[in-house]
Amino acid sequence: MITENDLKVLFKKDDIQEAIKALGNSLNNEYQDEELYLICVLKGAVMFMTDLSKHLKMPLRMEFIRLSSYGSGFSSTGKVNAVDISLPDLNGKNVLIIEDIIDTGHTAKFLMDFIRHNFKTKSLKFCSLLDKKIKREVEIDPDYHAFEVDDKFLVGYGLDYDGYYRNLPYIGYV
Ligand code: IMP
Ligand code: MG
Repeated sequence: MITENDLKVLFKKDDIQEAIKALGNSLNNEYQDEELYLICVLKGAVMFMTDLSKHLKMPLRMEFIRLSSYGSGFSSTGKVNAVDISLPDLNGKNVLIIEDIIDTGHTAKFLMDFIRHNFKTKSLKFCSLLDKKIKREVEIDPDYHAFEVDDKFLVGYGLDYDGYYRNLPYIGYV
């Protein structure tokens, strides 16, 4: 069992919050006077989504879906599980998917394809707090991201190891 003492801090609480505020400003510019649907990919993106949404000024609705691709270990399986992907009618809507991290890219691609296949949205974009670009197995890039990260297993601020550490206000690695 990893303890908090084994963790090294990669992004401090204040750095995360500052980056999220900047992202919020960019989104306010992009979606000025437009309505927006945020789609939070549970469970990892819950902290990011709630903090980000507080900076947004446009008429906003939030949906939550649950996908999983990781087992209980350190590496991505490449297989995506749609645990709960029930969504309202997104035809004609601006849709922004909110993720904690893009790793291999399978989750992001699955979700973008799923929405494209089921709805004719007005716009569809992807916003991920972290981008682990070096691990990408499928071609996908987030339209927005706060930090690019190395190939380390990260925990905190929504990211978990075996379900733990999501509550940490910072992001760390072992
Ligand atoms: P992908 O499908 O490989 O891109 O994986 C995306 C999902 O894997 C993310 O939404 C995270 O939940 C999880 N994940 C990827 N890297 C990490 C990590 O470093 N720590 C914790 N979870 C991670
Ligand atoms: Mg996730």
